Amino acid sequence: MTQRQRLDKFLAHMRFGTRREVKTLVRAGRVTINGKVATSSDLSLCPDRDVVAVDGQPVKYQEYFYLMLNKPAGYLTATKDRLAPTVLDLVPEEWRVKDLAPVGRLDKDTEGLLLLTTDGPLTHRLLSPTWETPKTYFLRIDGEPTDEELKTLACGVVLDDGYRTRPAEVKLLTTGPEWELVLTICEGKFHQVKRMLQAVGKQVTYLQRRSMGTLSLDPGLALGECRPLTAEEINGLKGR
Ligand code: URA
Repeated sequence: MTQRQRLDKFLAHMRFGTRREVKTLVRAGRVTINGKVATSSDLSLCPDRDVVAVDGQPVKYQEYFYLMLNKPAGYLTATKDRLAPTVLDLVPEEWRVKDLAPVGRLDKDTEGLLLLTTDGPLTHRLLSPTWETPKTYFLRIDGEPTDEELKTLACGVVLDDGYRTRPAEVKLLTTGPEWELVLTICEGKFHQVKRMLQAVGKQVTYLQRRSMGTLSLDPGLALGECRPLTAEEINGLKGR
């Protein structure tokens, strides 16, 4: 059950503007609560029970916000940086809500699926080693991998710092001249995919994340575009 909230806080949270802008909406008589015109922006309401509408359109309360971004190369996975553009720069202004942050990290030159959310508990769970969230990557490498190397990648490979990776799924897609693989790992060490390939003497020339847990990159999302997650996608990530 969500705590009671003031109308202005509720509407500001639901991206109807600043508290001041929301006050103007209320004063103009454009906001109703359970069908009655709201007379003041400091009215208290229950987000789960009361129906708030703006210009006759009901506003469905959402505690957290979730965006899927198709990250292009050249952007840092950070919320701000003094020098380089960040993934937050790709989020349209109206979706750039307070506390929106990327879940995990893709390298500057990596493309593909990046989840951004305000949901701290979900972020924690998706990144926690205990939950072993699978992440699938598409990659190109600079030479032909032998069957032995593919087996090593799948069984566990020793990285440059001595860490042995957990079992992974590896599938070779092509037979040259461009060597393409799909790799699924259930952990997230720093530069893990590139270091795994390095450990078998290969260099990654292109890297794209295709999925994280139950969430898959929307093929309709162009590089640099983002969209809110559907209710089904959110429920999937939460294991509902
Ligand atoms: N592994 C890498 O090496 N880089 C990424 O961006 C993601 C996983």
